[in-house]
Amino acid sequence: MHPHLPTISYQIDARLKGNIWPLSRVDVWRIDASSLVDGSVRSMKTLDRDELSTLSGLKFPDLKTKYISAHVSVRIILASYLGCDPGGIRFARGRRGKPFISYPTDTRLYFNMSRSGASVLVAVSNGMIGADAERCAGAPLEIAPDIFNSNELEKLNASGSAEIECAFTALWTVKESYLKLSGSGLGVDLTKVRTRNVRSSFWEVEGPPDICGSPATAYQFAMDKNCSAAISWYGQVAEICVYPMLSASALVDVA
Ligand SMILES: CC(C)(COP(=O)(O)OP(=O)(O)OC[C@H]1O[C@@H](n2cnc3c(N)ncnc32)[C@H](O)[C@@H]1OP(=O)(O)O)[C@@H](O)C(=O)NCCC(=O)NCCS
Repeated sequence: MHPHLPTISYQIDARLKGNIWPLSRVDVWRIDASSLVDGSVRSMKTLDRDELSTLSGLKFPDLKTKYISAHVSVRIILASYLGCDPGGIRFARGRRGKPFISYPTDTRLYFNMSRSGASVLVAVSNGMIGADAERCAGAPLEIAPDIFNSNELEKLNASGSAEIECAFTALWTVKESYLKLSGSGLGVDLTKVRTRNVRSSFWEVEGPPDICGSPATAYQFAMDKNCSAAISWYGQVAEICVYPMLSASALVDVA
C-alpha cells in the first residue's frame, strides 16, 4: 500500500470484493507532476515492456518524465484498490487503444487516464469510465465550428471574452471524456456528439450509437485553476469522490 494515498483507498478493495460499492461509483484522482524535473523519476521498474518501448520512442526528457509519472501514478493508484504490487498489474488495449486491466483478472475495476501539461487525471470506477483533462489557456477557438453543433456554438458565443476559453475547454472535455468512455477516441465527427447541460456540472452526452454506444452522463470540474476536466459513464452514478490534488513527487519514486 502506498503511504501517500488517503486511507479511504485502502478500504475500497474490501468494499469492491464484497460487491458493496454502489451501482456506479467513480473516484477521481488528480496528480500534480510539476515538481518533477526531467529525468528525476526512478520508478520505471514498475513499467512493463510496452510502456518501456513507448518511453524509448519519446525524444524529449520532459515528455519522458511526464509519461513515467502518469503511468507509475496509474499503477500505484490501481494497486491500492487491487491490493497488489504496482508492477504486477497487466494491461491490454481495446481496438482503438483504450487500456484496461487484464491481470489481476475479474477485478471489476475500470479506469481511464488523461494528461494535460503537468497534471494527470485518473478516474477509477466499478463501471466503464472515460476521463479527459485539458488546459484552458490557448484553447483553439478557431476550430469551434468543427467540433461544436449550432446549439453548443450559440451557448459558447454567449460567454464573455474572459470566460470563452474555459467554456470551450469545459465543453471539449465533456465530449472527449465521452469518446474515451466508448473507446472510440477522436476519429469521429465531433459535431455529431451532442451535449446537454442538465444541472450544474452534470451533462447528458449522446453520439452516433454505432460508434459511441449508449448516451452517457458527464461530470465536468476543474483539475486546477488553469485546467478543465470531465469524466463520463453509462447509466446512473451514485457517488463521485474527487480527491485532493496529490503531488507526484510524493507518489512516485523520485531521484
Ligand atoms: C484517446 C485519445 C482521445 C486521447 O487523446 P489525448 O487528449 O491526446 O490524450 P489523453 O491524455 O486525454 O489520454 C491519453 C490516455 O488515454 C488512454 N487511451 C488511449 N486510447 C484510448 C481510447 N481509444 N479510449 C480511451 N482511452 C484511451 C491511455 O491511457 C492514454 O495514455 P497513454 O497514451 O500514455 O497510454 C486519442 O489518442 C485518440 O483519439 N485515440 C484513438 C486513436 C485511434 O483511433 N487509434 C486506432 C489504432 S490504436
